[in-house]
Amino acid sequence: MERTQFADMQDSPSWSALLEHADQLASSHIYSLFEQDQARFEKFHVSSSPILFDYSKQLLTEQTVELLFKLAEEKKLPERIAALFSGAHVNTSEDRPAMHWALRSPATDHTFYNGDDISQPVAAELDKIAGFAEIIRSGQWRGFSGYAITDVVNIGVGGSDLGPMMSCMALEDCIDVEPTPLRIHFVSSMDGTQLSPLLDKLNPHTTLFILSSKSFTTIDTLSNAATALNWLNQACSEKEKVLSSHFIGISAQQDKMSAWGIPESNQLYFWDWVGGRYSMWSSIGFPIALKLGIRAFRQLLAGAHCMDKQFQNTPWKQNLPVLLGLIGVWNSNFQKINTHAILPYDGRLKYLPTYLSQLEMESNGKSVTRAGQSVAFKTCPILWGEVGPNAQHAFYQLLHQGTERVSCDFIAPAMRYHEHTNPSLTQQHELALANCFAQSRLLALGERVLPDSSSLPSYKRYPGNQPSSTIILDELTPFSLGALIALYEHKVFVQSVIWDINPFDQWGVELGKKLASDTLELLQGHRSLEGYDPSTSGLVAHIVNAWKQNS
Ligand code: F6P
Repeated sequence: MERTQFADMQDSPSWSALLEHADQLASSHIYSLFEQDQARFEKFHVSSSPILFDYSKQLLTEQTVELLFKLAEEKKLPERIAALFSGAHVNTSEDRPAMHWALRSPATDHTFYNGDDISQPVAAELDKIAGFAEIIRSGQWRGFSGYAITDVVNIGVGGSDLGPMMSCMALEDCIDVEPTPLRIHFVSSMDGTQLSPLLDKLNPHTTLFILSSKSFTTIDTLSNAATALNWLNQACSEKEKVLSSHFIGISAQQDKMSAWGIPESNQLYFWDWVGGRYSMWSSIGFPIALKLGIRAFRQLLAGAHCMDKQFQNTPWKQNLPVLLGLIGVWNSNFQKINTHAILPYDGRLKYLPTYLSQLEMESNGKSVTRAGQSVAFKTCPILWGEVGPNAQHAFYQLLHQGTERVSCDFIAPAMRYHEHTNPSLTQQHELALANCFAQSRLLALGERVLPDSSSLPSYKRYPGNQPSSTIILDELTPFSLGALIALYEHKVFVQSVIWDINPFDQWGVELGKKLASDTLELLQGHRSLEGYDPSTSGLVAHIVNAWKQNS
């Protein structure tokens, strides 16, 4: 489709009203909003176990929220939520539904896809995950020489890596069944940097590889898989034996797993209607079940299901995904803030910012509407982040005194270490929470937190007015993590509805992959440099020369 037409919001009365309202608020400071209204926290927070969501430190008023709700009505958010949960083909460019939510629905809910009840196959696959996890955890799965498995390496990338990796780290101390002596490793990078040193440490007799790839064509994963297979074959030349005792495949493409050599009995499956970055609820989440036990994995699904229900059934004033999504729209489109930081005050959530950067930017990093028009407004902001306490010693300087407006999500658990015998750990948790609240306060209010800031030299001034939300989990558990991740998934959906873009495809990553395979042929001398841009030709020539000189 030609991209000559522009989608703007000129015919949206709510958009115009919000623009006007933003103009009126332009000279306001979050500090003065708090001064004018001592009940701000009461008005602008929602407590819905396991999450408390405080958005009182956003630069907004009750009128802002009303106008955002009107915009959502105008963009038919209720109808679009209903479409998402009906299995309609909401992924228009790929003509399929986005039914990740069905993976966490109880089997008794009877979900249908193309007229078929998918609840039973979904439940059966979950049982299969449970069975595999049990066999490996209990030491019954044996390597080619009869030894039990001690190390599991998940090979996958993007959605086939980040969800299980982030969850395994987040829930490390939430194992509610017999702990497993298994060590679980994650390998994603195509350059071998992660795999090579790991293989040096691992024992081929006791190592199991999980090949996770929805498409089972991703070169990053297949190149790591080939290196793993070679490594095993150096210890055991019987390829069949190695494949049947050291590889499990997880994919939506059974024939491709079989063609690679993974026996059917070692395959876990999921469906085309699950997007890669929405797939940690499927068999892609197998490493989570392996690490924590199946009960915890089911709890993760239950937490996400709880958020699905809240998204569908809760009035907007209490609806966490709707609020989080609309506040993001307010900041991006009306406050003109183009960058958003995720700041967990809990080291276990180290990979959450990375996970969310794929979820949000691969979903809503689009500039074309569902009808193929170029958008004349901003869509997804740049999303980034780091564990808050560490980031305080890295990039918070810019947040406090830089020239960039940044919105932030502060995330922390209320309870931690309460069963621990070491009292100084409890104090460390208190310290982390104190820093979390102090930083968001200072970002919002600026130097006005001081009794008298009038004599400060300019380099000691804090302008404040950086908006943020704070998300408090009751405790970091499989249930609350499931709810948190589903909250962000639905936030992304809400924003995609307002911007009228398809959050479930990712065409922007396709061409680069194709160009890379052409470029590999250049480097290997199977293709001429003719027709390439001077930079690519120069770089390729430089590398090929370097290789020649060192050979
Ligand atoms: O590069 C984009 C992408 O397609 C992601 O959407 C996906 O999560 C990742 O690659 C991995 O894909 P696969 O699971 O098919 O290997």
